[in-house]
Amino acid sequence: MTKRYLFANWKMNLTEDESVDLAKKFSEASKSLKNTTVGVAPATLNVSATKKAVGSNLLVGTQNVYYEEKGAFTGEISIPMLKAAGIDFTITGHSERRNIFGESNELVAKRTQKALDEGLTTIFCIGEKLDARESGKTNDILAGQIDALTSLLQKKNYDNLIIAYEPVWAIGTGKVATTKEIEETHAFIAKHWKDQTGYDCPPILYGGSVKPDNYAEIIKVPLVSGALVGGAALKADQFTKLMEISEE
Ligand code: 13P
Repeated sequence: MTKRYLFANWKMNLTEDESVDLAKKFSEASKSLKNTTVGVAPATLNVSATKKAVGSNLLVGTQNVYYEEKGAFTGEISIPMLKAAGIDFTITGHSERRNIFGESNELVAKRTQKALDEGLTTIFCIGEKLDARESGKTNDILAGQIDALTSLLQKKNYDNLIIAYEPVWAIGTGKVATTKEIEETHAFIAKHWKDQTGYDCPPILYGGSVKPDNYAEIIKVPLVSGALVGGAALKADQFTKLMEISEE
């Protein structure tokens, strides 16, 4: 079986104590997993305490990272800061960063390229809004997001890159993409990546209203290597169930 991944994006939720508690539960539950790598991305303030609490049992990452090393960039965090804190990975280009905070394809690509060049495992998120899906523009949107990155990459083959396909209309809405939509879209991403870089596409995760009652179907879809989970990752029982499904 190919390797699987399950990542929790806690977004702007949980205090430090709550993050530590939940991460410890995830860490305990993940001990028996054979084929699934599990990680959590707490709010930035809680990342260090969470990492200290779980050690190497669970990957801990940030929800974003900036490409400059230090300086007058209020509100941002740098890759050296993450490395010094022993942080395992970062997310970039989440649709909430793109759509609520106005991050462009170019800005996301610069953050991602720098993180990859510095050897940090990076979950690069892409996804289309509902109007793009309905007007048949999904692939154009995804290609634009991907091309902004591949045009910047110093080398084209990165072992520590993971792509997360998260259709914006499926995030936090309870509206999950159909397995056909997921299969077609992941196939497009994989082909486009290969066309652009000459290398096989990194693992692609699906994200958007993943829950225990739909994950068994989703994880069986070709070219789905796991999930990036929001709401269901805030509940120990639900996320633990996703871990179990991932191993089936
Ligand atoms: P939900 O699982 O709450 O839809 O969130 C998905 C997501 O945005 C993960 O990054």
